[in-house]
Amino acid sequence: MIERLRGFRDFYPEDQEIRRNLFKTMEETCREFGFKEVDGPSLESIELYAHKSGEEIMSQMFSFRDKGGREVTLVPEFTPTLSRMVSSRKDLVKPMKWYSIAKYWRYEEPQSGRFREFYQLNADILGSESILADSEIVSLSAEILRKLGVGERIKLKINSRILLDAIINKFVGEKRREVYYILDRWNKLESDIKDNIINKERLDKNIINAIASGKIIKEFEHKELDRLNSILDYVKSYSNVSIEIDLKIVRGLDYYTGFVFESWDKEEKFRAILGGGRYDNIIEQLGGEHTPAVGFGFGDAVIENIMKMEGLWKLKKERRVFLVQIDPRGRDYSKDVARKLRAKGINVDLNVMDRGVSKQLDYAAKIGYEFSVILGENEAKNGTITVKNMSTGKQSEMNIEEIDNIWETNIN
Ligand code: HAM
Repeated sequence: MIERLRGFRDFYPEDQEIRRNLFKTMEETCREFGFKEVDGPSLESIELYAHKSGEEIMSQMFSFRDKGGREVTLVPEFTPTLSRMVSSRKDLVKPMKWYSIAKYWRYEEPQSGRFREFYQLNADILGSESILADSEIVSLSAEILRKLGVGERIKLKINSRILLDAIINKFVGEKRREVYYILDRWNKLESDIKDNIINKERLDKNIINAIASGKIIKEFEHKELDRLNSILDYVKSYSNVSIEIDLKIVRGLDYYTGFVFESWDKEEKFRAILGGGRYDNIIEQLGGEHTPAVGFGFGDAVIENIMKMEGLWKLKKERRVFLVQIDPRGRDYSKDVARKLRAKGINVDLNVMDRGVSKQLDYAAKIGYEFSVILGENEAKNGTITVKNMSTGKQSEMNIEEIDNIWETNIN
């Protein structure tokens, strides 16, 4: 047997249906917020990432030379593609509010919440530098989390690189990169390792601690801090989610120019559920007009872990039935019943095997049907259907139109 590649996943129906519902919630919410769907290629020229995403992503790319000798890569993230798309068109009406759900590839060390191939929702507002754009983006992410049922389990953390840089300038001096490095890994690094770095880089431990704990903000005034507070107030009043300023949120990607944010489970047992921020320069760097932009990426992996922990990673109740054919007449009739039920928006599966009634019922139970519809000579003659509740075993004959009631009353 040939094994699956490390860091890649197979999606069998029982799992993929739940994932599809996750995407549906993401998509519906984006549309409610006025976003339009876009998509891009899975392969891009490697140049697109040079000096933009940063060293980490550059080192994780699935890149190769194509048959024409071009250096190409499977896309590791959407933001550069999106920026390229915007930079190549001058006729777009700004601001654009765009979303996309697609697969991305990064050659990372596979671990909980991290794969080499993953799905990610991207939602971005392009062409606005307003606080309102940042606030709507964060509110959108909070609203998706609320709809997924984890609104009370998560917190949002916001920060700004402009603010952090001003703090570093005033209290630390030159060592921006080093401070970013420590803050980014603050909860992952053991304290003696942190101390070693602080000593080696001759940083002031008290100052670094005051940045990490956020205490330093109390002695600091900056218009970017006011900006952050406005975003915080907007999001709080929109969605009553837990949200705080956290100077440790610096994000790993190079292109962020100011505002950044992430969402985490409250206990921080898992990794960041989603992350994003403002990237005001990439589109211009790619040859487009100056187009300030803000957005986030929301993967399918960490949220799956959290929803599993909360017992929320499960199939939704759906209007769906399995048609069992008792005899040749029922087999024929099942086609008409299927057409009528499907036209009512019910998902209908029907027996396609040469199987007896009990085997058909067995199959329906095994693949999780709550209701079967049994059809034979009698039903065909009366123009009726016999609905069987698969968990109680109770059956009842009814007119086709009456089927709507079974999801309300549950025949028992
Ligand atoms: P990112 O922080 O690299 O940002 O990824 C955002 C989210 O994508 C993560 O929080 C996680 O949910 C998911 N993710 C990233 N890498 C993996 C992986 N290897 N396996 C599973 N899930 C993963 C970006 O990608 C930015 N382009 C987001 C953005 C959009 N910023 C502005 N607009």
